[in-house]
Amino acid sequence: MRKLTNVLITGGAGFIGCNFIHVLLTKTPDFAGRVINIDALTYAGNAGSLSDIDAKFGGSRYFFERADITDRPAVEAIFKKYDIDTVIHFAAESHVDRSILGPEAFVKTNVLGTYTLLDVARVAWTVQREGGARMRDDVLFHHVSTDEVYGSLGSEGYFTETTQYDPRSPYSASKASSDHLAFAYHHTYGLPLTLSNCSNNYGPYQFPEKLIPLMILNMVEGKPLPVYGDGKYIRDWVFVEDHNAAVWSIVTRGRSGEKYNIGGENEWENIALLDKLIEIVASRKKMDPETIKATITHVKDRPGHDRRYAIDCSKLKRELDWSRSVTFELGLELTVDWYLGNDQWVKSVRSGEYRNWVEKNYGSR
Ligand code: NAD
Ligand code: DAU
Repeated sequence: MRKLTNVLITGGAGFIGCNFIHVLLTKTPDFAGRVINIDALTYAGNAGSLSDIDAKFGGSRYFFERADITDRPAVEAIFKKYDIDTVIHFAAESHVDRSILGPEAFVKTNVLGTYTLLDVARVAWTVQREGGARMRDDVLFHHVSTDEVYGSLGSEGYFTETTQYDPRSPYSASKASSDHLAFAYHHTYGLPLTLSNCSNNYGPYQFPEKLIPLMILNMVEGKPLPVYGDGKYIRDWVFVEDHNAAVWSIVTRGRSGEKYNIGGENEWENIALLDKLIEIVASRKKMDPETIKATITHVKDRPGHDRRYAIDCSKLKRELDWSRSVTFELGLELTVDWYLGNDQWVKSVRSGEYRNWVEKNYGSR
């Protein structure tokens, strides 16, 4: 098992990163190191999601650095200050609809930001030894990516690790570029590297512009439920803690130079998922499910909307003995309960920049 000491988490104030840090510092007996969270706190980042962690571990095992991953001097200083030996790179612009309305931020953060981290790691981890410069072999860069790089499937088949890349949105194209850069740094400079391509995550702390939290909150607030197109688009859903458990097994036991697909083996048409969610919210809030259903509104489709994603994660299961721990039913219940019990968090992430952006692009929704 690889030993991690000073772990740089990028984007740790976002959805998946903050869940990762919670579990790493509170429920991972195999980890005794330090976590350094670098996050620019864009509209999607909320340092408050880690206030409990900061109170318990701040200054001893948890350090927050507000910085942009495209800012090379800042990233270099952080590598030096904390003697980073592991990078787990979550930071990204992550929302497909935003990438269609404004691709530039995606190219900047996802492509230039990933390049900056890779290059700073390359320099920091190259040591002078007898016989010339050598890349350290006790370090690791893990790049967190998405199944969207593989493009769109018809009704049959699955994405495997050897499926050819075919990104179709500015978001997925920027993530595909970052994946290629990551492997280029492994092949060219020998940077120790692993990479994961995961399907749709759901769970606590997800920014409520994404399908599941948006729908939960709209149901509770009696707002329309905006379904893109015919609603028969298919996604494979995985609970965020199961995604993160897979990332942990890759960074501790995965093979350098390898990529691993992560998925829930859990495909749902959006409209069928919505029915399930309506049942849970209706029962928790003592509402009539038919009244909620009547608020489903088919709206204009997302341009270039990928029809189906489905992941073959047999490599991860076979090599690293990973399996999902939560059924979809239980995961959805945990998620609904979390959003119903965390009004303050919802209010805080919906304020400020997010509200302005939503109102400018969609009107009040
Ligand atoms: P998110 O949008 O919730 O969080 C992204 C975080 O990155 C935020 O805290 C934000 O402040 C930070 N960030 C953005 N730009 C930055 C910059 N230039 N410098 C520093 N920090 C910056 O995203 P998420 O859903 O948690 O996704 C995390 C990663 O997982 C992304 O790389 C995404 O592509 C990948 N992924 C997400 C999913 C999913 O379903 N959400 C699925 C597969 C892969
Ligand atoms: O597949 C992994 C990807 O999953 C990640 O890489 C992305 O970061 C993450 O945002 C997610 O992308 P999607 O586009 O699949 O997620 P989103 O929640 O935006 O949409 C899920 C599906 O629901 C998709 O088919 C579009 C549809 N949808 C979404 C919204 C926000 C609606 O019908 N109505 C909506 O209002």
